Amino acid sequence: MISAGILLALISVVVAQSQPYGQCGGQGWTGATTCTSGWTCTYSNPYYSQCLPGTGGGSTGGGSQTTSPTSGPTSTVTSLNALAKSKGKLYFGSATDNPELTDAPYVSILTGGMFGQITPGNSMKWGPTEPSQGTYSYTQGDAVLSLATSHNMIVRGHNLCWYEQLPSWLSSSSSNATLVSILQAHIQSEVTHYKGQVYAWDVVNEPFDDSGVMRSWLYQNVVGTSYIADAFNAAHAADPNAKLYLNDYNLEYSGAKFNLALSTITTLVQQGVPIHGVGFEGHMIVGSVPSAASIAANMEKFTALGLEVAFTEIDIRMTLPATAALLAQQQTDYQTMVTACMMVAKCVGITVWDYTDKYSWVPSTFSGQGEACPWDANLVEKPAFNGIVAGLNSQG
Ligand SMILES: *[C@@H]1O[C@H](CO)[C@@H](O)[C@H](O)[C@H]1NC(C)=O
Repeated sequence: MISAGILLALISVVVAQSQPYGQCGGQGWTGATTCTSGWTCTYSNPYYSQCLPGTGGGSTGGGSQTTSPTSGPTSTVTSLNALAKSKGKLYFGSATDNPELTDAPYVSILTGGMFGQITPGNSMKWGPTEPSQGTYSYTQGDAVLSLATSHNMIVRGHNLCWYEQLPSWLSSSSSNATLVSILQAHIQSEVTHYKGQVYAWDVVNEPFDDSGVMRSWLYQNVVGTSYIADAFNAAHAADPNAKLYLNDYNLEYSGAKFNLALSTITTLVQQGVPIHGVGFEGHMIVGSVPSAASIAANMEKFTALGLEVAFTEIDIRMTLPATAALLAQQQTDYQTMVTACMMVAKCVGITVWDYTDKYSWVPSTFSGQGEACPWDANLVEKPAFNGIVAGLNSQG
């Protein structure tokens, strides 16, 4: 059981003014909307505003970035998706979301055949889709879905149960049984709404702490690890044909977090919980990517359980400013990541966490870092693009 005080601290840390780089707004946000002196609350997307340095005139729409110092490569590859499919994969895709769908040049690349899959970055999360209990809002998720389906792109639904971007009303309820039925009702509604229209759902997102323990958050603390099985069972009941994934980051590395993920997921499989895949998010740092063989070996620990895997959110960030050397290393790192997936037959697809630096989450989340995507902020392909192509071509 958990006290109301702890619950409040978990759900909404209420301070008078948000701290540097802290959240200061967004749908469902109940904390402070002003920043400490010298910092400005800056809009990032409908769900997230953040305190950034400066006293006004912050950028909007995802953060502008400097142009890469080297111009992008001229590639003859016009469809990463077609190339991936020709090599036995199901898709090569990108995240996107509503704010950028009004950017015609951006949408033109997104839907022009380069990609075969879309993940909505924010619109299908719990907070946005159930803003008050039992009242569902799917308009923005529907907009992404219809963009995808009208261009023959498949959709990964993201996500149903996560410790962030939760609806603020959740804080008013604290009993185990109540929280389970609330979770089941949410998943039942959302998965039914999109039944037959999404390829896969990230059912449970980021349940593991980097230190190798279950992440401490509302459901873990009140319900315990059984919330994971509850979520998968509810999703499977609502859409028996959707692939159901557990999605997390840093699974590319060996160590305590990976070991916990493997043991937890092994138990779920042994218990007959309807889990079908493991998402390797792939949020990486330039120069810190493990070898393709070691990433593939981690993936194969899950495919040995009968599961599929995918890279679900790849971006590879660097400390700015970008240099030719950093962009070259980034090209190598993208090639390594894609090669790892190509080495694993049941790595079904690859998604980049938006294809362009223009709409990357990185600069607003990691101070001083950015340029993480394969297209620059001017929608020009970077050396990383050629790294992806080389990776896709790596297995003959
Ligand atoms: C919550 O309820 C479930 C189902 O009865 C139970 O398995 C679990 O142990 C309970 N959690 C806690 C922390 O008591």
